Amino acid sequence: MSTYTEDNRKVTTHRLIEMKQRGEKISMLTAYDYSMASIIDQAGMDVILVGDSASNVMVGNITTLPMTLDQMIYHGQSVVHGVKRALVVIDMPFGTVSGNPLNSLEYAIRMMKETGADALKIEGGEEIIADIKKIIDAGIPVMGHLGLMPQSINKYGTYNVRAKGEEEAAKLIKDALLLQEIGCFGMVLEKIPAALTKEVTSKVSIPTIGIGAGPHADGQVLVMHDMLGINKNFSPKFLRRYADLHTAITEAVQGYIKDVKSADFPNENESY
Ligand code: KIV
Repeated sequence: MSTYTEDNRKVTTHRLIEMKQRGEKISMLTAYDYSMASIIDQAGMDVILVGDSASNVMVGNITTLPMTLDQMIYHGQSVVHGVKRALVVIDMPFGTVSGNPLNSLEYAIRMMKETGADALKIEGGEEIIADIKKIIDAGIPVMGHLGLMPQSINKYGTYNVRAKGEEEAAKLIKDALLLQEIGCFGMVLEKIPAALTKEVTSKVSIPTIGIGAGPHADGQVLVMHDMLGINKNFSPKFLRRYADLHTAITEAVQGYIKDVKSADFPNENESY
């Protein structure tokens, strides 16, 4: 099967910026393991995110907060082994970037050294800007993440749309400009009004990647389990499902159970 793109060059942070400049949309999807990462890479994805949503879809936690540095490193290593072309970005987990730049840099270096990922993603703006700058100054590319920041769910209390009011929208724009100023190569904008995404995207020269943020971002990201329909219980308005793997997997597993129970499997051709 051919890939969406014929361009097999490795995607770099610089190429993402060039894509924004020529108006080419950026595709981004999460992955957490070798096998899925290699399928997604070969399909032609531009960016693969080892998201801390692994906490929800791989571990079964309710929030992303319990994810540890060691768990993220394990997922990061697995994904990197499967990827040749896409840019691999990995989330810094909750508590590793929280206002102590030297500690944050130490964790960031561990993530880069032990996973082989190309870049890090960090949730937050002005409050942790010194931490992000320290990491970038050490030569590590960083993608920001503004709007709904799931690591702050206990502060917000809900997963509702963020920055609908003037004050929060103004802070988001200020944070976006700050992230650009200190050298971030891009930023995720999560669950904010489409008009605000449009404004931010026109104000910054680095790519914005939206999730639940409307059509005006420079690219889009989704959680792999949601868009493949593995996860049936999560149906926000912004989600488009491209498959129903929950049904497909259930039917395949039930077919196998039936064949084992009826002694139809294995047959002579499947035996030594
Ligand atoms: O962890 C994650 O999967 C993310 C995306 C939702 C952007 O941060």
